[in-house]
Amino acid sequence: MSVVLDTKYQMLNTFPMRILSIETSCDDTALALIDASGGIRSPKFKILESIISSQIDTHRPWGGVVPNLAKREHIANLPKIFKKMNTGKRNVDAVSVTVGPGLEPALWAGISFAKEIYDELKKKNPKLKLMGVNHLEGHLYSFLLSQKTEFPNSKFQFSKQKLFPAVALIVSGGHTILLKMDSLTKWKKLGETRDDAVGESFDKVAKMLGFPYPGGPEIQRAAEKGDPKSISFPRPMIGTKDYDFSYSGLKTSVLYYLRDHIRAKKTDVAASFQEAALDVLIRKTERAALEFNAKSIFLSGGVAANKELRKKLGIISKKLDINFIAPPQNFNTDNAVMIGVATYMGILKKKKYALTAHGNLNI
Ligand code: KG4
Ligand code: ZN
Repeated sequence: MSVVLDTKYQMLNTFPMRILSIETSCDDTALALIDASGGIRSPKFKILESIISSQIDTHRPWGGVVPNLAKREHIANLPKIFKKMNTGKRNVDAVSVTVGPGLEPALWAGISFAKEIYDELKKKNPKLKLMGVNHLEGHLYSFLLSQKTEFPNSKFQFSKQKLFPAVALIVSGGHTILLKMDSLTKWKKLGETRDDAVGESFDKVAKMLGFPYPGGPEIQRAAEKGDPKSISFPRPMIGTKDYDFSYSGLKTSVLYYLRDHIRAKKTDVAASFQEAALDVLIRKTERAALEFNAKSIFLSGGVAANKELRKKLGIISKKLDINFIAPPQNFNTDNAVMIGVATYMGILKKKKYALTAHGNLNI
């Protein structure tokens, strides 16, 4: 067995904790109840309940998320979802909530609700903890959900594999970040987008093509029927020595292409755009894995749901003979289970976030 340990955390608790987590940073209202155990040496999670109420229908007519509508929906949905969750409420050890990054009105809805629940549940458990959680740490740690223990089909088991150093790519509607991880608790940001996030570019190009919000899955579907080599869109910053990204130029290229080619096949535009967008992610992740002698690539965030991206990073990892770990399919886009996972890691690390909305919180 060879796993890199953070010795100073080794002795921390390994006993089970039940965590009730809340996620309202954007347009999904999500609550989850998980059991966490194993400590920093071998963190394991059992999902007891996970409910996500999507607001897509509310925001679709506007072509994107409207912060105050999101807030209103979260306030209406949270108590309804909480009422549905009956399992083991009495045994909860920690209540946690995303405090950022995200839309501040939406974050506040979750934070206020977390405080209410905390006051209620504290009557039954005076030792109850209330924790703020970084949404990006939720995405980052969601690879831990792919362990064999939780999903029997998965081969990966944290305590039995050498995973670090690793390169972690977080790709969502708001972020495009590449990290180098030395352990579960120590990482360094290598680079990030200088303008639009990759998910945002999927959403914007989808809108240009007349597809509904959210655009990522729509582009993926259309791309399956198109030719990715038919149009040569730019790959911004693909050759730069840094690990930064840029997606606004690619988006503009698609806009001009559509203006100049009124009869363009949507499927070809989608496939060519997707290939250009993913090429940059793949090339830079591969380069970082080589430079830092990574033993693993971790992928997370809503765009990690993209089949092509998973396939291509899988191929690269095989070529480099390293691990490739992405969350199970339902845990790429926003959910509260990942917030529960990050809560446990936060408790083990003794890292606390203030219970106020931090719209621009970073990782
Ligand atoms: O992580 P997430 O749910 O929310 C944020 O934290 O932003 O990510 C949402 C983003 C959206 O931009 C959405 O279009 C994108 O993830 N997305 C995809 C796919 N599924 C969701 N992008 C590409 N391909 C997909 N299959
Ligand atoms: Zn997210």
